[in-house]
Parts: sequence; C-alpha cells; structure tokens
Amino acid sequence: MIREQFERPQHILSASQFGRPFLDYMYELINTIRKYDKSKDGLVYLQNLLGHRRAMLYFTQPSTRTFLSFQSACGILGIKAAEIRDPSTSSERKGESVEDSLRTFASYVDLIIMRSPVAGLCDRIARLLDETPRPVPIINAGSGPDEHPTQALLDIYTLQRSFKAADGVEGKTICMVGDLKRGRTVRSLSRLLTNYPGVRLLFASPPEYRIENDLRSFLLDQGVPFEETTNFRDAIAAADAIYMTRVQDEYDVAAESKKVDSSAFKLKFEHLASLKKDCSIMHPLPRRDELDPAIDKDPRANYWRQERNGMWTRVALITILLGVDHNIVLPTL
Ligand code: NCD
Repeated sequence: MIREQFERPQHILSASQFGRPFLDYMYELINTIRKYDKSKDGLVYLQNLLGHRRAMLYFTQPSTRTFLSFQSACGILGIKAAEIRDPSTSSERKGESVEDSLRTFASYVDLIIMRSPVAGLCDRIARLLDETPRPVPIINAGSGPDEHPTQALLDIYTLQRSFKAADGVEGKTICMVGDLKRGRTVRSLSRLLTNYPGVRLLFASPPEYRIENDLRSFLLDQGVPFEETTNFRDAIAAADAIYMTRVQDEYDVAAESKKVDSSAFKLKFEHLASLKKDCSIMHPLPRRDELDPAIDKDPRANYWRQERNGMWTRVALITILLGVDHNIVLPTL
C-alpha cells in the first residue's frame, strides 16, 4: 500500500483539490477494499468499520446512480444513512435557508453528501460548517453545471483499470463528446486528467456546446495539449478512451437545446470498427441516444463497470474522510 504523500482532505468539493499522490493512493486503496468483497468475513469487517457513524444524503437534484452508490457505500461501511431528496419535505418549505437546513443536518450526522442544482453551494456550506463547533465533512455529489468530483474520481479509477495501472493514464488520448459546455462530469474529469503527463484531450462537440473559458484557460495554464473539434469520426478513431455525455437540457433557459444539431455526435454500433482495439468506451450515464445500446456487449464498453467502480470509489473516499482508511490493510482474507 502506498503511504500517503498528500494533505488529507477535510471535504470533497472540487476535482482541483486532488493531485497525483492522492489519485495513486486512491487506486491502491480501492483495489484493496475490493478484496474484502470476496468473502463474507471481508464484508463483515468493512461493515464494522463505521457502524457507529451516521450520514445525510441531501439530494435536491435528480439522481439514480450517484445516490444509490453513495447509499450502498454507506451500507457497506455500516454507516446509517438518512436522506432528503426533495426540499419541499424539509423546513426549507417553511422559509428556512439552505444554510440553516444543512447546519441542522450537521447536528445529527457525521458526514453530509449533497447534490444541488446550485453551483458553489457545497463550498459555501463547507466554509460555513468549518466555522461552527461541529464541522462535518461535505461531499459534493454534483453541484449544478459546475463540478462532480466523485464522478471524476471514479472515472479516473476506471481509466486506470482499463489501462491496467495507476500510471496507465499517462500519455493517453482521451476524447470527450457531447454537451461539454454544461456537463459537470467533463469539467471535473478534464481537471483531474491534468495530473497525468502526456495526456491529450480531444473535445468533440457541436459549436454551441464547446467547453467554457474557465476550463480552456485552466488547460492552457497547465500546458495540457487539447483540441476542440467538430470532426467526431476522426476524434473517436484517435482516442484511447471515449467519454460520451448527454445533452444537459435541464439547464436550458428557452429550450435552446432543441435548436442545436447534435446528430453527428452519437456513438453508433457501426463506429466500433473504426475505434482502437483497446479503446475504453465510457459514459457517466444516464444515456439517451448518444450511445447505442447495441454497443453494450462490446468488450470495450466500460460504462456499466463505471457504475460499480463508483460504489467502491465512494467507499474508499468515505474511509479517507472519516479516517479509517488505514484499517484497510489486508491484501487477502
Ligand atoms: C451525471 C451527472 O449527474 O452529472 N450523472 C451521474 O452522476 N452519473 C451525468 C448526467 O446527468 O448527464
């Protein structure tokens, strides 16, 4: 097990807080945790790690995978998890501020996992709680079009697994496709990928969905080579991994997505022949028609693995935040 050479995170708020030593440590930690999944004794061991802890899942934006994988991760570690999925069932309905609601949760639980349509809300809440006598860790499970750091971490883990080593991501060409303007997964993953020397990013999208300036300047500052293109066919053929995303029309103001022609940015079964032999096909899901279900059976399809990896990644992140990752030591049980 790699000993850590990173500052231990108090919260998980943004992909930019993680450097390479953390990512390599996380890769080893998740692989070790998965060995506990091989036996009943191993799973009972994990169950007992945090049986005395409680968490709040506060998800006020739709979610299937992220919610279920966090809920399952809490279950695996024995954490009792409460949930709010609709602010109209909380005192926010009576006019309570979101800050007061979250401070209330912090009175009862040891960890808050939150998804919200509001960019920056998690950071605000984390800063607020840090100044109280009962600061609890906050995990950003998606903050508007802004960030989705735990998705990016599970995506990195999936890439490392598909390239068969923690450093396997180095030197690879990663192609991101779709609504790159409003897709938070692309924003967070692109930031994390700057930790791997030699990575080249290809952003394939209709002109209306090009990446935002903040990401463009970040990549330029980091000296990461990237290309923005409308040539989907050439981009996917050059890629070691393809990261498909859906149109994020929940952020439309006046149904503007309807006017964008995304038809040339869909991965179809007939494209498979033009992809590299070991190309990893990924998607944070949910998908629409940008990713043909006929591709699911291809050995290069990794999106269902991504879901499962997400649960184990979240188990690992929670053990780090709650300080029990050092108890994950047994290579075999
Ligand atoms: C993504 C999200 O919520 O940003 N989904 C997820 O968490 N797996 C992607 C999306 O909704 O398009």
